[in-house]
Amino acid sequence: MAETGSRGNEGRGRLAVVVGGGAGIGAATCLALASYGWRVAVADINVEAAKSVAGQCGGDWYPIDIFDAASIEKAAADIEAKSGKIYGCVCAAAVFQDKKPPEDTPIEAFDRVIQGNVRGTYLVNVTFAKRMAANGGGAIVNFSSWSGQFSSPVHGYCSSKAAVNMLTESMAVEWGRSGVRVNAVTPGFVLVDRMVERLRVGGRYSVDLNSISPLNRIPAPSEMGEAVTFLLSDRASAVTGTNLAADAGVMAASAWTVYGGIPGPRAQKT
Ligand SMILES: NC(=O)c1ccc[n+]([C@@H]2O[C@H](COP(=O)([O-])OP(=O)(O)OC[C@H]3O[C@@H](n4cnc5c(N)ncnc54)[C@H](O)[C@@H]3O)[C@@H](O)[C@H]2O)c1
Repeated sequence: MAETGSRGNEGRGRLAVVVGGGAGIGAATCLALASYGWRVAVADINVEAAKSVAGQCGGDWYPIDIFDAASIEKAAADIEAKSGKIYGCVCAAAVFQDKKPPEDTPIEAFDRVIQGNVRGTYLVNVTFAKRMAANGGGAIVNFSSWSGQFSSPVHGYCSSKAAVNMLTESMAVEWGRSGVRVNAVTPGFVLVDRMVERLRVGGRYSVDLNSISPLNRIPAPSEMGEAVTFLLSDRASAVTGTNLAADAGVMAASAWTVYGGIPGPRAQKT
């Protein structure tokens, strides 16, 4: 694996695992990390997707299922055995939920979201943090969502992301003295393939999603990769237990509807 990426050697050839690295934000994060000189282990339940991303970023791929503690433990052990000390971990795998009234949502669907996003994130954090602690330190980034701070009609999902925020804080305190930093990135909406398809089909959202962002756009997955590489890097050496919003300002603007909405651009001087 290359130790210097197209954008330099900030990663210093350190090894980072991206759980859920086979698609969307996780895949973009793998590419971003490699471009900054990280070695990347792509872990995903979708093995073909993980293989493909590993091929693109010069990394290795590993099967993992965030519902299965043994599979997380096995992936961590296999990564260490093949590539050595793990310094970075990104938890980007998640379970999503259909928008349905709660009385029409089977409790099994609710349970699955909570299990995957809360228990799964917890298991990934503990499994990799204990290894990083034994190796002298590291950094973890969890993926939250603006749904973790603002309620939405995907009740299990938004509750699970609120829990990810608190897990991130508690893990940061738990492992801080062992040299492991733990942070979260909070997207608003991101133009992953899944989202592009939802927008194409329509029906889920009642407004143009650009209109709720002060920047008037939905970020690309690669922009989430930039936020992650910062938090994993030594540039963020004093940052732990925090939540970095990479949401194009959606959360900051959420109360502005009441005051007439987001102002338009100021006229430019010629
Ligand atoms: N895309 C958005 O608009 C958006 C917005 C807010 C938050 N997020 C968060 O960002 C993160 C990434 O989301 P995304 O949109 O890139 O998702 P995605 O569906 O594009 O990719 C998720 C990846 O996780 C893998 N995965 C699914 N279940 C798994 C399991 N049980 N074990 C291991 N891997 C599994 C999938 O195979 C896939 O490769 C998630 O935590 C999501 O909640 C995304």
